Amino acid sequence: MFKAETFIEESVEQLKNKLSGNAMIACSGGVDSTVAAVLVSRAIGDRLLAIYVDTGLMRKGENADVGSMLTELKVNHRIIDASDEFFDALKGVTDPERKRKIIGERFIRVFEREAKKFGSKYLIQGTIAPDWIESGGGIRDTIKSHHNVGGLPEIMDLEIVEPLRDLYKDEVRKVGRALNIRFSERQPFPGPALAIRVMGEVTREAVELAREANAIVEEELQAAAQKGEMEIPWQYFAVLLPVKSVGVQGDIRAYGKTIAIRAVGSVDGMTANYSRIPHDVLERISIRITNELKDRVNRVVYDITNKPPATIEWE
Ligand code: XMP
Repeated sequence: MFKAETFIEESVEQLKNKLSGNAMIACSGGVDSTVAAVLVSRAIGDRLLAIYVDTGLMRKGENADVGSMLTELKVNHRIIDASDEFFDALKGVTDPERKRKIIGERFIRVFEREAKKFGSKYLIQGTIAPDWIESGGGIRDTIKSHHNVGGLPEIMDLEIVEPLRDLYKDEVRKVGRALNIRFSERQPFPGPALAIRVMGEVTREAVELAREANAIVEEELQAAAQKGEMEIPWQYFAVLLPVKSVGVQGDIRAYGKTIAIRAVGSVDGMTANYSRIPHDVLERISIRITNELKDRVNRVVYDITNKPPATIEWE
């Protein structure tokens, strides 16, 4: 049986012995990177620097939440506002894979700048067992390309340390709970963030719409689950579609944008079934989105496709 407390004790001890210089970690607020950051911070204190890059593409309130969580957990961290850089780099780009590539490269660039300033010897990564066990040209290689800050270790001569290498996701969550990390139960969120939830060009305005709609989807589904109306899906979010449709505003015909709601059940993201969300809940979401994003969004649709043939994300 896996014992989180024993794992924490042993791994902090090992990290203490191993890490002889400064270490850095890119912390996105995700479960894996946060757990890794807290373990290393317990071992070497402020010789660890966690970098949170504000790409301008994160969910509502996320920058502040991650900052206060790292403060509570006493992890030495820095929040870097690089949103202008990201939006500039993404200007005019509509192809999803190019978006991913640009975001990944930009991320490395920002991280590299900070790592140089800090004089880091080690790069801590939140890699977990399935990330390497199932690699070998599989889907995970592509999926994880952003998070693994690929390329950086060679450029900067950093030694990679992966404290969670032998753990599975449920074990990481157990460790997270034992470390009092309140984000341990969060749903998965992709590295390229809202950039792949805005179909087409990624502008500040488009991201703002996707962010607001996403917050409504999250709030309503979490509230419905708390009231026992449904089970919380494995992953749930909003996508801004590049489709405009006719609507009525007062007695005038108006063109507005479309938001798609996506909610799925899954075990590992490799396959997924769309969630049977009660229609009342869907209607509440639809009414809130069209009210709160009035004049901009006038249509809300629910995605009823499984994976395969669709993927979970739309891009
Ligand atoms: P798909 O859309 O491929 O998603 O069915 C499967 C799971 O992977 C997440 N995902 C990503 N995660 N970088 C990430 O870190 C990515 O580029 C990426 N694309 C998809 C997705 O949110 C889902 O949990």
